[in-house]
Amino acid sequence: MNSNRSNVVMDERSDKSGPKKISVYGAGRVGATIAAAWLRAGTNVMLADIDVSKVTRIESGESVFRDEPGVDEALIKGVRSGTCIVTSDTKYAASGCDGVFIAVPSGFREGKIELDAVRSAARDVGSSMKRGALVSLETSVPPGTTRKLLVKELEHSSGMKAGTDFYVAYSPERIFEGRALHDLEENYQKVVSGINEASLEKAAKYYSIIAKKGIIKMSSLEAAETEKLFEGIYRDVNIALSNELAKYCEASGLDYWEVRSAANSQPYSHLHKPGAGVGGACIPVYPWFIIYEADRVRLDLELVRTARKVNDSQPEQVAAAALADTDLQPGDRVAILGLAFRGDVDDDRFSPSYSLVNYFVAKSFAVTVHDPYISKSKPKGFSLTSSIEQALHGAKLVIVATDHSMYRDLSFSDVAGMASPGSKILDARGVLKRPNPMNEKWKVLGVGSRG
Ligand SMILES: NC(=O)c1ccc[n+]([C@@H]2O[C@H](COP(=O)([O-])OP(=O)(O)OC[C@H]3O[C@@H](n4cnc5c(N)ncnc54)[C@H](O)[C@@H]3O)[C@@H](O)[C@H]2O)c1
Repeated sequence: MNSNRSNVVMDERSDKSGPKKISVYGAGRVGATIAAAWLRAGTNVMLADIDVSKVTRIESGESVFRDEPGVDEALIKGVRSGTCIVTSDTKYAASGCDGVFIAVPSGFREGKIELDAVRSAARDVGSSMKRGALVSLETSVPPGTTRKLLVKELEHSSGMKAGTDFYVAYSPERIFEGRALHDLEENYQKVVSGINEASLEKAAKYYSIIAKKGIIKMSSLEAAETEKLFEGIYRDVNIALSNELAKYCEASGLDYWEVRSAANSQPYSHLHKPGAGVGGACIPVYPWFIIYEADRVRLDLELVRTARKVNDSQPEQVAAAALADTDLQPGDRVAILGLAFRGDVDDDRFSPSYSLVNYFVAKSFAVTVHDPYISKSKPKGFSLTSSIEQALHGAKLVIVATDHSMYRDLSFSDVAGMASPGSKILDARGVLKRPNPMNEKWKVLGVGSRG
């Protein structure tokens, strides 16, 4: 770690006060959660986002994060009482703030890492932040981004020196969508790193106000950046393994779900669940950040790459398996249950359901997707409904793609009763109640038939 204590603005160990006012850049699921946690801790919050319509919605007291318990409530209360100011004036939002938390998106598209939002937020923060402020990046980024990109932009636009005139930290957001605030405040230790010791101490002190489970101090910004990516890679590789072992079980006449449950009763086994693919803004993206960095030092991360390949090809394999042994004709109706990438959230980013839709639309089937939480979709070419009866009406093929809790209340017979008589049903998330014996047209991913 680059530690240069003699240069810092003040000795952090002698300063016991928390921030009086903070700003959060990015009013997404992550930024809104951070803002909510600070509001609940009694701190004044400036919440900044370039999306004017989102700012207006939050400002007017609209419920924007319905599937995140506690977040809307805290924002609405803060806006009403004046402790939360929501703004699209990102060039001004950091002014007067003791802490600035950046939670804008990062991404990976067509072989390129996208960090434009981090760059532009850093420029804006730098143009208005005060001397002595802590700037903490929470966006998941390739190792080295905080030091090389964030610091460079902050110094350039502020004219100040990181570690000397202001503090810099990296602290990955580790929330699980659907319980984000609880995760941040209660569930997990907050991983914290700093550009120097004073920054680390400042960040640790600030974060310990909102994160009750405590702090894990990392030795460098890069170690903290990498930690977050490894969490995602672990899950991606594990899901790829589960997808593969589920295929083995099918071919061997076994039930993966039964085998998994018994295997996981041993404390060293953590087999994940198979499914129609991997989605969300995080897990399909993070492996590429590490693969990209490994490529630069000519290291081939074969297993990580293979897991990506396995999971990326999963929707097409699930779709093809669902279509096999059917006599569906172009124009026939296919119902997909779930557009969200995961159960009980309204997030459809990189959802494998879209790949399922594309597969069937390309074959000229009439596709209807049901989702209880998502009512709009950017991609077109299919119908989206929140009525399960409407989605299943006339469907000759049904695929359960998302593990929404409401599907757990349904049995295969319930679904069949709403679909076209004799329809084929593939439960790719193992959620539907299974009758015994199963109808031969009803399948669960990872479950083979014996004999
Ligand atoms: N969603 C998760 O569960 C999760 C979990 C852990 C980490 N993360 C990380 O956090 C990042 C943000 O996640 P999210 O789900 O909140 O994303 P999001 O896309 O829902 O929200 C990001 C917000 O940032 C705003 N924004 C973009 N550029 C900006 C700028 N220059 N200044 C101010 N606002 C700007 C966008 O308008 C958007 O509202 C992810 O990219 C990921 O790196 C996400």
